Amino acid sequence: MWSDYEDRTKGSRELFERAKRVLPGGVSYAIRYFQPYPFYARRAKGAYVWDVDGNRYIDLWMEHGAAVLGHNDERIISAVKEQLELGLHFGWANEWEILWAEAVADWFRMDMVRPTNSGTEANMYAIRLARAYTGRRAIVKAIGGWHGGYDALMRGVHYPPERIESLGIPGDVTRDTVLIRYNDLEDAEKKIKDVRPAAVIVEPVLGAGGCIPAEREFLKALRELCDETGTVLIFDEVITGFRFPRGASNYFNVRPDIITAGKAVGGQYFPGAGAICGKEEIMELINHVKRPRYYERVFHGGTYVGNALTMRAGYELIRILRKDEDKIYGKMESLGRRFIKGLEDAFSNSNTEAHVTGVGSMVGLHFTREHPRDYESSERTKDVKITKELFYHMLNRGIAYLSPEKAHFFLSYAHSQEDIDYIIEVVEEFARSKRQ
Ligand SMILES: Cc1ncc(COP(=O)(O)O)c(C=O)c1O
Repeated sequence: MWSDYEDRTKGSRELFERAKRVLPGGVSYAIRYFQPYPFYARRAKGAYVWDVDGNRYIDLWMEHGAAVLGHNDERIISAVKEQLELGLHFGWANEWEILWAEAVADWFRMDMVRPTNSGTEANMYAIRLARAYTGRRAIVKAIGGWHGGYDALMRGVHYPPERIESLGIPGDVTRDTVLIRYNDLEDAEKKIKDVRPAAVIVEPVLGAGGCIPAEREFLKALRELCDETGTVLIFDEVITGFRFPRGASNYFNVRPDIITAGKAVGGQYFPGAGAICGKEEIMELINHVKRPRYYERVFHGGTYVGNALTMRAGYELIRILRKDEDKIYGKMESLGRRFIKGLEDAFSNSNTEAHVTGVGSMVGLHFTREHPRDYESSERTKDVKITKELFYHMLNRGIAYLSPEKAHFFLSYAHSQEDIDYIIEVVEEFARSKRQ
């Protein structure tokens, strides 16, 4: 399946042999590994990434979905170059954090914001805020929702969803994490009314779960149920926040109490990228001036939060997006539509049953016997063998995405129609090969 790949990636193989000795699994993050070894990237620009052997890939992983404008956008890089000279991390209050916070609050139409170091952190603090605000403990999350590595949210990510997602997390830490099925109104209603949680946390489009969009009615019902039960509604917009103009909450027209962001919120390419954005009455629980006693406020902070580099890059990204909102999102949406239609057509008269999900620049392809509307239906009947075959078929033809077991794709403004048409040709070739 991957012999062509091995022929072309001798340098990556060597690096993998070295990497294995010092990096568990040879990578910094398990998701970046695939068999027989991952390629190691050397350079990236626009829609493409080049590996150490000089192979070029059309990138559909796009930096974990962070690169909305594509890799290494000149405008962001030149703003950051200027900042390099001035200082990256002052460890002091700075103007860029204010400019960034104003831009992020305005983007999501939220009252107040705090920067975090990652999406994981944003969700951890959001849960803490919700618990403090309500005085309750339980959290409701959707099966298949990935909110990062915070202990309390490490349940119901993989299929089947019975087990805690990691060793080292004591059972009682996730005891109060209650799972609901995505897009299942009845399940949500029953559990939220039953449990009366501190928070309901949900991705408006399941990202790692396969690019499966929420039905608007589901999100609306969550809003109503949270209002009825005094629960904080958190939208995890770590992926979606900048993949839709003003985020997915704007796209679906449902207002949560807190939006968590990550990835692109720090300008796409920089660490220390995360945000908790919320209503004033919730966010003010962090305010140490109003709440001078440590035990009467919610702790949030961190050495690198608000560093000038990330703040400036995030601010610059939002400035670019605001200036050309229609053009940028118009293009990404039309690429997404073209891609979805191309994938659907490729399998429409094939023996291989495939279903396409997605919205905007997020697209999922599922070799299942049912059209997935939640994580379980994307996994239950999945043909893992074909899913993997497609991955290597694409990889051998210069198209890269993650993971071999989950065909989901992130487009960017930097992709061209020609890129999409080429990808579709390659998928059609795959579908034809399955017909014989
Ligand atoms: C929806 C969602 N939430 C949270 C996270 C965690 O973000 P980070 O990896 O920055 O900690 C991710 C990361 O992929 C994500 O996709």
